[in-house]
Amino acid sequence: MKLFVDSGNVADIAGLVPLGIIDGVTTNPSLLAKAGGDSRAILKEICQTVQGPVSAEVVATDVNGMIQEGRELAGIDEHIVVKVPFGKPGVQACGKLADEGIRVNVTLVFSSTQALLAAKVGATFVSPFVGRLDDVATSGMELISQIVDIYDNYEFSTEVLVASIRGPLHIVEAGRLGADVCTCPPAVIEALFRHPLTDIGLAKFLADWEKAQGAKG
Ligand code: E4P
Repeated sequence: MKLFVDSGNVADIAGLVPLGIIDGVTTNPSLLAKAGGDSRAILKEICQTVQGPVSAEVVATDVNGMIQEGRELAGIDEHIVVKVPFGKPGVQACGKLADEGIRVNVTLVFSSTQALLAAKVGATFVSPFVGRLDDVATSGMELISQIVDIYDNYEFSTEVLVASIRGPLHIVEAGRLGADVCTCPPAVIEALFRHPLTDIGLAKFLADWEKAQGAKG
């Protein structure tokens, strides 16, 4: 499974990349607004840092505007994947950009039929938002299961990118269901490294070793 960082914060991303577990980055207008500064310069720096797919979302809402903005975003760096929101303009823009060889991530997906349409127009990634579904008492993971089944049945090459992840259990379930990618806030990735039994076990190993060294001396 690929792990992406869901962030527009270059320092956070740069802190995680040396671990060797990060395959890409997703951003959205909210995350880039939070980062502040020149969003195109930030996207370029993220691309150079991660050297993998970096999703950059259009803010245009009409088809031609999305296509034009998508081309401009794709021109920032070879690693850019253009993100378009699901809807008629987004689906149409995705088809056109994909025909031009530009990779597209269809975002704000909340149903398996939306994911089916994204795959039909050649999306490279589809982003179902599991946390936001859980927030309204609807199973985000049931949606992932449906999309994985549908894509498998018809051998779509679109990758299922699980988004709006709230914690490690979402990653466990996504892995069991065979999702291709999980995009996670930095805090969730940090949480994957923590386990109290690992800490207790290491402390005991080191204490036993020190005790044995003392006994020898
Ligand atoms: C994905 O591409 C989105 O940026 C993100 O996962 C949204 O997550 P949120 O629901 O925590 O805002």
